[in-house]
Amino acid sequence: MYMYKELVIPQRTIMTPGPAEAEPRVLRIMGAPILGQYDPNFLQIMDETMELTRYIFQTENHQAFPVDGTARAGIEAVISSIIEPNDKVYIPIFGRFGHLMTELSRRAGGDVYTTEIEWGKTYEFEDLKNEIIKVNPKVVAVVHGETSTGRMQSLEELGKFCRENDILLVVDAVATLTGTEFKTDDWNIDAVITGTQKCLSVPTGMAPLTYNERVEKILSERKKIEQGLQIDSYNDRMISSNYLDLSQIQEYWSPTRLNHHTESTSMLYALREGLRIIKEEGLEARIARHALNEKALVAGIEAMGLHIFGDKVNKLPTVTCVYVPEGIKEDEIRKRMIEDFGVEIAAAFGSLSGKIWRIGSMGYSSRKENILKVLSALETSLIRNGAIVNRGEALQAALDVYEEKR
Ligand SMILES: Cc1ncc(COP(=O)(O)O)c(C=O)c1O
Repeated sequence: MYMYKELVIPQRTIMTPGPAEAEPRVLRIMGAPILGQYDPNFLQIMDETMELTRYIFQTENHQAFPVDGTARAGIEAVISSIIEPNDKVYIPIFGRFGHLMTELSRRAGGDVYTTEIEWGKTYEFEDLKNEIIKVNPKVVAVVHGETSTGRMQSLEELGKFCRENDILLVVDAVATLTGTEFKTDDWNIDAVITGTQKCLSVPTGMAPLTYNERVEKILSERKKIEQGLQIDSYNDRMISSNYLDLSQIQEYWSPTRLNHHTESTSMLYALREGLRIIKEEGLEARIARHALNEKALVAGIEAMGLHIFGDKVNKLPTVTCVYVPEGIKEDEIRKRMIEDFGVEIAAAFGSLSGKIWRIGSMGYSSRKENILKVLSALETSLIRNGAIVNRGEALQAALDVYEEKR
């Protein structure tokens, strides 16, 4: 009988826009014994996770918890819980994940209006404002950091304008939260979602989110009329998904502990540990670490003679997109980097496919040793594949950044 071999997973240096490397402490806690979901220890873990979730989102919102599933489960939970058939929604698209929000809003029955700008750009506030005035939506949904293009949309003025005009603002902060500044309350954001596998450095599988009382009001209107298992106990504005019904999930996370789903035990241990590490480091220090490593990475790439894709003003600090040099097959370089160095960087989507690489520097992957390793692997692989680069300059430039010489 054929016996499957025990898995031997190689150690990698992951410099993609996700998943990032997981914190070793996070991986260790995942091996802890399973607790029952009403065990007092487990309930305490849930409450502490809510407190820590408020911290990373910089919010006083009561509702702050993870949805089990990948980041899009959180995005879909928010969208399908607040958008009702024929609600007007405006989505300014500037990359792949704006299309995801559009699809989810359409699936929820929304009357969805979009604009799309060239990949590599972001929106001026005045342009957003004019579109919003034209559409007059109930909801504006926007991506903060587009991993597909390495761009970051500024949100502060948009949030203020939406609040003044009683429009709900929903934000995908999957690629940005804790890797760069994000202020849910100060920026007037009504609902925001992130994922565990990027800057939080926890494995893929949960979508922490938060929302305010404006969203809670909609949920309470759409909720089951009373607790009961019969379908006639629902009102006609019922949220169509059970799994992603935030009105039920929030009750699971409330003192009533509604038995909605069976919480993902080991992932919750992992999330709490990942958040605890963030709290220990401090948000400010963590954001500064991401900025320093990004600066060293960019300095190294430019010193090599390569070019960064997109404007510097709206660059996403956690993802650096780099043009593939003329005559080089991008997949051959990635293959060599992983085979010879154990270093992974990412290809691009859609119209950018084959033209750029996307290099992530998120969470635990955002470390000096990783930056130096990705630069040396990229330079060496390019030279082996016949590209002409400035030999030896990249690491010197990156070290200059770390030694504060530039
Ligand atoms: C900006 C952004 N939003 C949403 C997602 C979807 O996340 P997931 O693959 O965890 O569902 C991703 C994944 O890469 C992303 O980068």
